[in-house]
Amino acid sequence: MRVLITGGSGELGIRLSRLLAERGHVATVASRSARPMRDVAAVEMDLATGAGVESLAGHDTVVHLASNPFEAQRVDVEGTQRLVDAAAAAGVDHLLAVSIVGVDDHPYPYYRAKAEMERIVQKGDVPWTILRATQFHSLVPRFVDMLPAVGFVPVPRGVSLQPIDVAVVAERLAELVEAGPSGRVADLGGPEIVPLRKMVEDVLGAKRLRRLIVPLPLPGGLGTALRDGRMLSTPTQRGQRWSDHEAGINPARDRVGRLSAPATKPSRSAAWPTSSRSGSRSSNALAPSRTMRSPSARKTEMGTRALPAVDGQATTS
Ligand SMILES: NC(=O)c1ccc[n+]([C@@H]2O[C@H](COP(=O)([O-])OP(=O)(O)OC[C@H]3O[C@@H](n4cnc5c(N)ncnc54)[C@H](OP(=O)(O)O)[C@@H]3O)[C@@H](O)[C@H]2O)c1
Repeated sequence: MRVLITGGSGELGIRLSRLLAERGHVATVASRSARPMRDVAAVEMDLATGAGVESLAGHDTVVHLASNPFEAQRVDVEGTQRLVDAAAAAGVDHLLAVSIVGVDDHPYPYYRAKAEMERIVQKGDVPWTILRATQFHSLVPRFVDMLPAVGFVPVPRGVSLQPIDVAVVAERLAELVEAGPSGRVADLGGPEIVPLRKMVEDVLGAKRLRRLIVPLPLPGGLGTALRDGRMLSTPTQRGQRWSDHEAGINPARDRVGRLSAPATKPSRSAAWPTSSRSGSRSSNALAPSRTMRSPSARKTEMGTRALPAVDGQATTS
């Protein structure tokens, strides 16, 4: 299949384009700074202006990963509309877009833009698939890197994430490329729930940074949306967990893929989630495992919550 990947120079895009090439597809990455890689071509495309969208011609499938939280209206909303229109004009058969678990009714402007992106894809003339995923392992390290080098890190109080191995998201996307248009598929969540504070502590420790963590009370709708579990989803047991992961990940190196092979263990075999809970969670699904004897399970007791697997197996390793 001939597949063009918008945002192909990003963390997920690099993984996916390589994986598609390995699976025998003809992959092209598109962005403002995309560079060719082995077996992967590159084209320039700026979704904020529409420059380069004519490159969609000749592709069977477009995987839409391009996103910019700092320019979400221009890129994620207006850029997606440009992409959908150009894909329809070019006769693309399948538009596969990636979104984020819990974007419905979220007050965070970037999430509102992602929800709007989904609506534009759904309303367009190109048969589509939408996959929502939880936060990648690199998100918190990236956040820490962006903070000014002051002696403290503000961390919203009471927030937990369900970090997922980006290699697992790439694997799922490759399957969805091959499956063809599938509509809104089941959300993809990482195997465990980790308090944001613990993730920040792990990253600071791995980077050997001494910073005071300052719990930030977030009142109002944004605080509620971050705390109420809508960003959590059905867990998959594939790939690395946060507690296995080197929190010393260097996202800048990850972005250009140099660490990609050593950073990821082979996927564990388990089923994909089969139903989407769209950000809502059942208390049952999030109950901690009852057997907490192994070292990683003790770590789980200290910081992370184990989740029952979608295939019913315990998730502590
Ligand atoms: N990171 C997460 O935790 C997470 C979780 C769930 C879902 N997602 C979604 O997964 C997708 C990929 O995420 P990621 O973390 O891999 O992204 P990323 O590393 O931040 O990369 C973003 C990509 O978007 C491209 N881009 C930005 N502005 C653009 C523009 N004006 N025109 C064209 N391309 C543009 C960037 O390339 P240039 O700068 O070269 O243009 C880059 O390739 C996104 O849709 C994101 O919302 C991410």
